[in-house]
Amino acid sequence: MNPTSAVQTNNTAKAHSATTTQGDKRFKILSAHIKRHQYQQNALIEILHKAQELFGYLENDVLIYIAHALKLPPSRVYGVATFYHLFSLAPSGLHTCVVCTGTACYVKGAQAILTSLETSIHLRPGETSPDGQVSLQTARCLGACGIAPAVVFDKTVIGYQTPELVLDHIKGWLKDGSN
Ligand code: FES
Repeated sequence: MNPTSAVQTNNTAKAHSATTTQGDKRFKILSAHIKRHQYQQNALIEILHKAQELFGYLENDVLIYIAHALKLPPSRVYGVATFYHLFSLAPSGLHTCVVCTGTACYVKGAQAILTSLETSIHLRPGETSPDGQVSLQTARCLGACGIAPAVVFDKTVIGYQTPELVLDHIKGWLKDGSN
């Protein structure tokens, strides 16, 4: 969704969020956090961080809620949430694969890994497989340049990766999920 459509859906989303936020403890915690920041608009990034920590990702209701609390246009909140890579607007998969695209990894073939994932299993950075098994992300530098190209499979950094190795690893996850 682009910022314009985010604004267009504001009214419906506001009504929807009023019903869904009630009784959800996470919104109470988020509300307390916003209050702690004295509803300051310049605390937006900090508040988005907290929201992602609580909800796992920044769903539309949450963005609208924050916009409302900080008296900011939803398009502004949406714009900030989409600008920074560390924020996710979709639920992440059961497994996460992070391909490093920093200089050392790029030179050693990170792009070939990403291209292979896109052509073989139609997974692009920022996306989750339709079955919810795998999310693909990229990072600027994992601090493991000596073993480039490096990839993080869930929380384990593995070096010297090739398109075939990464694809095999991910296909293993996808296969597990189909059982
Ligand atoms: S550039 Fe990939 S680990 Fe540093």
